[in-house]
Amino acid sequence: MRVAVIPGDGIGKEVTAEAVKVLRAAGEKSGRRLDLESLPWGADYYLQSGITIPPNGFDLLREFDAILLGALGDPRVPDNRTARDILLGTRFELDLFINFRPVRLIDDRLCPLKDRGRKDVNFVVFRENTEGVYVGIGGRFKAGTTDEVAIQEEINTYKGVHRIIRESFEFAKKHGLTKVCMADKSNAMAQGHALWQRVFKEVSAEYPGIQATHLYIDALALFLVRDPGQFQVIVTNNLFGDIITDIGGALQGGLGMAASGNIHPGKTSLFEPVHGSAPPLAGKNIANPMGAILSAALMLETIGWVEDARSIEAAVEAAVREGQGTADIGGKLGTSQVGDWIAKKVTGA
Ligand code: NAD
Ligand code: IPM
Ligand code: MN
Repeated sequence: MRVAVIPGDGIGKEVTAEAVKVLRAAGEKSGRRLDLESLPWGADYYLQSGITIPPNGFDLLREFDAILLGALGDPRVPDNRTARDILLGTRFELDLFINFRPVRLIDDRLCPLKDRGRKDVNFVVFRENTEGVYVGIGGRFKAGTTDEVAIQEEINTYKGVHRIIRESFEFAKKHGLTKVCMADKSNAMAQGHALWQRVFKEVSAEYPGIQATHLYIDALALFLVRDPGQFQVIVTNNLFGDIITDIGGALQGGLGMAASGNIHPGKTSLFEPVHGSAPPLAGKNIANPMGAILSAALMLETIGWVEDARSIEAAVEAAVREGQGTADIGGKLGTSQVGDWIAKKVTGA
């Protein structure tokens, strides 16, 4: 397997180094061939070259079996173009329409909610990843004046809405789950989200064994905090999925724990922790690498290396259980020491 590794910016570089360490350990243990090729794209590269992603960049990425990314975003690039061009660009160009974000609590101790634990925090979010307000359609008229008009359009297509809702039901069916909840804002966004309503009814009718429920996104935010145990599969649009998966990160013990995959089944897909580049933490060896390591495991699982993925997940779980973590989850280790511990556990040394 050939993996493109884009460490990116800030703590992205540090957590990716640990994910790579653990991937190498898994490859060593199972004897499988894993080629990891690092790509330098990010703020440093942009500030030196003026290029965020080279013209052939997306074609280059398509040649790999998978992509592992750290995070993008640097205060020296205030317009956020590294994230937009590289991360959103890859999601769009490679048509990675599923943003799969599992929200699973590894240890009761990490749960921020009173009297809740592992049984209450175990669901997945299917975030639409190629449409919505992220498409960047719009413009500014009379920018910088008191007459400024700023337009940012939201795109919802039948194809886009249908395929993400379909995937959410297929996932539920495949994993023996019985509930799918769709969240939108169709009470206020009566055009675009009427389409979500229509397609959800249409698709759910094909899955009589699965209970299909709907919540407005504001109510979903409430229930995620008050009673997350009611959720198994959540499907929603790009922006709402972004927001609720940060809540999901908190439910898992912090953003440093949360993993994700940007997936187009059968095509080169991209895996990354849910968190960003966290500039205040960068360069201090304090960022939690577990979200990045779990994203690497999700990558292996997706390409079919299920045993290797499970052994990485088991090692992360052991690290959490045994208090071998960074300060954000109550541990005393640095970023690289956590990676060392997990890599060692994976090799069984
Ligand atoms: P962030 O995720 O970087 O940080 C949010 C909070 O979570 C901060 O308190 C941070 O300290 C904490 N945190 C995040 N990751 C952590 C980890 N691994 N260990 C411990 N604590 C962690 O979000 P932000 O501050 O809003 O954004 C910073 C930059 O990252 C911005 O440029 C933003 O656009 C970018 N960003 C990129 C991605 C991505 O590349 N996928 C995702 C989100 C944000
Ligand atoms: C994420 C991030 C990105 C998003 C940003 C960096 C554009 O927050 O992957 O969750 O909004 O999708
Ligand atoms: Mn986000």
